[in-house]
Amino acid sequence: MTRGLFISFEGGDGAGKSTQSRALAQWLTDLGRTVVRTFEPGDTALGAVLRQAVQHGEEVSARTEALLYAADRAHHVDTVVRPALERGQDVVTDRYLDSSVAYQGAGRGLGVEEVERLSLWATEGLLPDLTVLLDLDPAVGLGRLTGTPDRMERAGDELHRRVRETFLARAEADSGRFLVLDATRPADEVAEAIRTRVRPLLPAV
Ligand code: TMP
Repeated sequence: MTRGLFISFEGGDGAGKSTQSRALAQWLTDLGRTVVRTFEPGDTALGAVLRQAVQHGEEVSARTEALLYAADRAHHVDTVVRPALERGQDVVTDRYLDSSVAYQGAGRGLGVEEVERLSLWATEGLLPDLTVLLDLDPAVGLGRLTGTPDRMERAGDELHRRVRETFLARAEADSGRFLVLDATRPADEVAEAIRTRVRPLLPAV
């Protein structure tokens, strides 16, 4: 059986990741594929506890924060992502390892290489086949959010600027894995650009 496709969506808060991942998952489903749509942090029972702790719990150090995200990712990959891919199902996730590299590595200043190594260890090296980066000025993205801001949304503009730059730098360094799209474009144009990139990754029928 061929392994499913693994696609992650990345970008700042409010860039439209969930809208676009939902649209892509629906399109793949309409093509007759079986799709698992998921997210980080928090899409397992343990993950929900970790998400609450890392986003709304007591103050934690940057290293503790990085380890909590890595623990969530390790468990998510072990119990959801890898089993689905091995069953031949596609996995579409809102956020994955590049979020840790950008937010903890650059945003919190822990170092992009070190945080990438931590996540690669946590996931036994599992990388997406495609990462869609929805690029947006953080001032615009954060302005779109509603509800009580989490720990990261409360962090300063400077952190969010570093996060954006790090996502873009990673995308430029690995254009084989990344597709970068301007998140201010109309949602249907963004969705079509994503489908155009995904089509050649699908096995011929
Ligand atoms: P979201 O569920 O609304 O996308 O929020 C997730 C928040 O968690 C977002 O502010 C970014 C942050 N985050 C990290 O800092 N590191 C990570 O590894 C992940 C997955 C998310």
